[in-house]
Amino acid sequence: MLLRNKLTHTRVGQFKRFKSGYLNATIKEQLSNPAEIGSILETRGFVKSVRSSKKIGFVDLTDGSISKSLNVVIQGSNQPKLKVGQSILVKGEWCEGKGKQPYELKYDPNNPTHSVSIIGDVTEDYPLQKKETSMSFLRTLPELKHRTSTLASFLRLRSFLEFQLLSFFQQRDFIKVTTPLITSSDCEGAGEVFQIEPFNGNPKEPFFGKNAYLTVSTQLHLECLSLALNRAWTLTPCFRAEKSNTTRHLSEFWMLEAEISYVDSVYQVTNFIEDMVRHVTKSLQDTNIENGSQSVGGDGNDYLSGSYIEDELVKSRWDQILTKERWPRMTYDEAIEHVNKNLPESEQLTWGDSLQLKHERMLAEKSPIFITDYPEIQKPFYMLKSSNYNPEKPTVACFDLLVPEFGELAGGSLREHDFDVLLNNMKHHQMNLEDMEWYLNLRRQGTIPHGGFGLGFERLITYLAGHDNVRDIAAFPRASDLCNC
Ligand code: 4AD
Ligand code: MG
Repeated sequence: MLLRNKLTHTRVGQFKRFKSGYLNATIKEQLSNPAEIGSILETRGFVKSVRSSKKIGFVDLTDGSISKSLNVVIQGSNQPKLKVGQSILVKGEWCEGKGKQPYELKYDPNNPTHSVSIIGDVTEDYPLQKKETSMSFLRTLPELKHRTSTLASFLRLRSFLEFQLLSFFQQRDFIKVTTPLITSSDCEGAGEVFQIEPFNGNPKEPFFGKNAYLTVSTQLHLECLSLALNRAWTLTPCFRAEKSNTTRHLSEFWMLEAEISYVDSVYQVTNFIEDMVRHVTKSLQDTNIENGSQSVGGDGNDYLSGSYIEDELVKSRWDQILTKERWPRMTYDEAIEHVNKNLPESEQLTWGDSLQLKHERMLAEKSPIFITDYPEIQKPFYMLKSSNYNPEKPTVACFDLLVPEFGELAGGSLREHDFDVLLNNMKHHQMNLEDMEWYLNLRRQGTIPHGGFGLGFERLITYLAGHDNVRDIAAFPRASDLCNC
């Protein structure tokens, strides 16, 4: 307690313009808004690495606010014994850096104004010792893994992207709304819902008076709100009881969904989502160039440095997104033809077959691509029929956005806005009409042609980070047989 009071009340080496002067400075703040050379200042963080010889010691200090670490240089032989993983407070002299780093903190054990104190010690078996460690090992440490530079950079990237998306939608008159996570409908009709009941509930008397589930998609409620607001969007958790043990599926993931009133072409929606993905990628690229590892000033947002990031892959993915030409659009019919050209006779697809990941990869070989107008039978009840609807080969006005290597990033459609047709669709899908009365009512009262989409947020982050597994992007991933804290 004594130590804590001392720490929080000491004020030394204040910076010129602290954004949050009453909080202790982050390392990011200290590096991007540097104090005067020669001033005494305090810094706090985790020991990332320690190297020492008889006359000099080096400690890399990191606090997660930025991917860079702050070098603490310890002079003389009387060096404190520090261990990787400890959280420490160092008070020393702010100096120009001697190596690659623009600044460093000099700690002289013989100088009475300098000090080092251990805030939190570690045990001898602290597991994050090595600089390079595998993702599969880190997955076994859900409570500690975020202290590694790569996992921390994923979290910072996520926060940056959310911020960019907020401004993108705000500038385009979209209202950010909240939709329920508990719902009585299975939006996608795929039977992948988690049913919810109190732990000690009575199955004969359901808590909500009817079956209730965790939402698989907020779309139906979002439609309701967008019809009132013209344009609406949300970014919320969605839950799916899929037993898909893949690098792209989670049981709990975040979906960005948007609904737009008065659209009557699926291409209006694809253009919009393309602009959105381009916008966040461009902001990321610009921020990284301005604030990359070489820069001294700026706000220090070099989101993607980290030992696991393969820069070439990141660069090629960003370049593919930011191509001069608009991404190609292809109908499902054309896609089947294209895929079949590259498949042996025995593996040929026939009309109506689903496109599997390997087919999606063939289609999105060089750049993201939109596949539109899938067979009606593969899709949920709410989709509008294609404008060139052919009863022999019935398709709906929908699309999937596929990206190279990774496959589906987003899906969307125009929504059936005619009451009678929608009612028919529901009957055809054998849905409980009583439960869906509220949704049908939207078509009875002042219906509006509209459309929208849903994009898997972890998939987007995985893709932009040059990573390959959504399980490292969700801070605490949940999947079948995975709920370890
Ligand atoms: O294609 P989906 O199932 O579409 C819908 O749910 C629509 N109601 C969305 C809408 O039009 N408003 O899901 C949309 C996206 C997928 O493209 C995928 O990126 C992501 O959500 N997704 C998942 N991400 C991680 N784990 C899972 N299990 C996912 N299932 C879907
Ligand atoms: Mg889909």
